[in-house]
Amino acid sequence: MTQKVAVITGAASGIGQALAVAYARAGVAVVGGYFPADPHDPQATRDLVAEAGGHCLMLPLDVTDSASVDALAEQAVAHFGRLDYAVANAGLLRRAPLLDMTDAAWNAMLDVDLTGVMRTFRAAVKHMGEGGALVAISSIAGGVYGWQDHAHYAAAKAGVPGLCRSLAVELAARGIRCNAVIPGLIETPQSLDSQNSLGPEGLAKAARAIPLGRVGRADEVASLVRFLTSEESSYLTGQSIVIDGGLTVRWPD
Ligand code: NAI
Repeated sequence: MTQKVAVITGAASGIGQALAVAYARAGVAVVGGYFPADPHDPQATRDLVAEAGGHCLMLPLDVTDSASVDALAEQAVAHFGRLDYAVANAGLLRRAPLLDMTDAAWNAMLDVDLTGVMRTFRAAVKHMGEGGALVAISSIAGGVYGWQDHAHYAAAKAGVPGLCRSLAVELAARGIRCNAVIPGLIETPQSLDSQNSLGPEGLAKAARAIPLGRVGRADEVASLVRFLTSEESSYLTGQSIVIDGGLTVRWPD
């Protein structure tokens, strides 16, 4: 069987790294983008993928730069000969109350968390044929809930399902599917950042309100994303799937 090939943005940490490992286990080759300005070492993903018996190319990437995103997709084809799946996972999270919100902070957030998704899909679809699949990572912040002091993040994440629905319709004739994943609270470097997110104490407190009694793991989100790009979900497109341990369907008490 032909080996499938996936590009993943933000693949040096958290959900993106867990997805690279999930793909390795499933026999899918990975071209992962890492953001050099962040402290994550791409070698960790290379090592984990190798341990899982997979193939992975890690390349520097800035999703705010169209040329950089185009190059990631081109490298997938140059290195592995094809491109089947694209996962727009890279994300920025910053705290900014409305009255402190600068235009620059607003634009920087949308540039990564919404326009970056479009750039990733635009670059990948050029190389994709029948059976291609796109997945973007939204968030319950914006995708379901509001989040105080994070209006720019929530606005960007609320835009992601709309983008995915539209591309699902537009690309269906080419046999390419497009879905969004809406994670709840997942323990990763992003959510462990006490300055911009909940931090370890906030996550522990929030876990008490989650019906399954805990925050999620990156590999649990990765498992859903892998499914959404696989043949097992061949009739599933244009959907936004919440994965949150029951948090958003809980009756408030
Ligand atoms: P993370 O912070 O480990 O991953 C985000 C990745 O995006 C990092 O590797 C970072 O270097 C990369 N990135 C940031 N700016 C970039 C840029 N300009 N170009 C390329 N890459 C860039 O955190 P996590 O949680 O794994 O985040 C993955 C996605 O999941 C993000 O889109 C995030 O917003 C989303 N998410 C996370 C939740 C959580 O509770 N951890 C909840 C809901 C959504």
